[in-house]
Amino acid sequence: MKNNKNISDRGGFGSKLGFILAAAGSAVGLGNIWRFPYLAAKYGGGIFLLVYIIFAVTFGFTLMLTEIAIGRRTGKSVIGAYKAVDKRFSFLGVLAAVIPALILPYYCVIGGWVLKYMAVYVTNRGESVAAAEYISADSDAKISFFEHFIGQLGQPTIFFIIFVLLTSIAVFIGVEKGIEMISKFLMPVLLLLIVGISIYTLSLKGAGEGLKYYLLPNFEGFTFSKFLRTIAAACGQLFYSMSIAMGIMVTYGSYMRKEDSLESSVRQIEIFDTAVAFLAGLIIVPAVFIFSGGDSSALNAGPGLMFITLPKVFSSMPAGGVIGAAFFILVALAALTSSISLMETVVAVVMEKFNLSRTKSCCVVIVLTLVLGMLSVLGYSEWTDVKIFGMQILDFFDFSTNNLMMPVLAFLTCILIGYSVKTKYIEEEVMLGEKRFRSKLLYSVMIKFVCPVCMLMILITPFVTDI
Ligand code: PFF
Repeated sequence: MKNNKNISDRGGFGSKLGFILAAAGSAVGLGNIWRFPYLAAKYGGGIFLLVYIIFAVTFGFTLMLTEIAIGRRTGKSVIGAYKAVDKRFSFLGVLAAVIPALILPYYCVIGGWVLKYMAVYVTNRGESVAAAEYISADSDAKISFFEHFIGQLGQPTIFFIIFVLLTSIAVFIGVEKGIEMISKFLMPVLLLLIVGISIYTLSLKGAGEGLKYYLLPNFEGFTFSKFLRTIAAACGQLFYSMSIAMGIMVTYGSYMRKEDSLESSVRQIEIFDTAVAFLAGLIIVPAVFIFSGGDSSALNAGPGLMFITLPKVFSSMPAGGVIGAAFFILVALAALTSSISLMETVVAVVMEKFNLSRTKSCCVVIVLTLVLGMLSVLGYSEWTDVKIFGMQILDFFDFSTNNLMMPVLAFLTCILIGYSVKTKYIEEEVMLGEKRFRSKLLYSVMIKFVCPVCMLMILITPFVTDI
């Protein structure tokens, strides 16, 4: 390997393709599959797609490039990396370590739900999920299979533990032989599955109407306030989707080879991530549209879309059992490669900070994840009365990281690069792997002016209901 010393000490990716697939694996996750299609449907179809793509190639590109370059230049885990860039900003490293440590547990809880659905569909019991109705223990109301499932303690705990252990396999093995190998195998499988399922759903009768709804701009009721909300939603989604501001890209960047091109790698990761989100929309929007007879409200938010509506959609379509199985395998793979990157980020910090071996650090992180994740599992079963600021425990973890800590981290990272160490810090790193930095001007304008404003907008939006 031609890796520099920093990298070879801690392990590193053996090829550019390996790095791109691992980073794309991190980016492509639950966010692409259920969050993107529902947002696109809600915010005017084609309008959202267009705004999203413009943001991806400008704002997303800038933030991702910044993080990967910081990681590669310093060759350290997040805590050491931010400290090495500028001592005064060391606290950002701590924030970048705390964020994935808080996200990983609840992400694995949702990963466990996906595994349960995958198991049900693979064993050909998909029909029962769609049709099942239960009586709620406390209100006598009818509840779905999903609500019944997450309301229990036993099964969600078991699937959560299995998901954490599956995640840890690649991290235990290491960067090149574990994460890189697994990504090189899983990402092509994921791509094949998503292309295959989207071709199938598009071939169904009536899919054309759904496709139009998804792709054509819908200006009906599109006021200025909705336009602002669309921008905020697209910005937020991009942030979520590209695994930005959770320390991951800094960590993966620290394992990247110095001779590989940063700029083209970031472009390819972006294309992969956006393509998967777009294809997920091609599956979900037309399928739900046909099923609901054109009622777009069926595309509503949250886990309900994936765990309650989609099973009904699958059971209404020919060969729905097989498609359902393929779909939940796809979602499980997407979630797994993302949780691997979250765990690796935390493990890298523990290894560096406490000077522990990879194996010992993994064990520490697994225990921490199991303890914190159980809080989210309990929040839906034994502790339904426990609310933090009026939120379920899982929602609280999600909100505090995605809506508060991540925009703050990204905002301050922009200030750090744009105004403290200056863009030269990133430019020098980009120039190592190429003859010129094509997007130099764009980068500089984005990091100094546009990205900080977008970050403030993401921060403010949830608190201002009617912009
Ligand atoms: N980027 C991944 C996704 O779209 O699901 C991973 C991820 C995003 C994990 C946001 C956690 C998170 F809060």
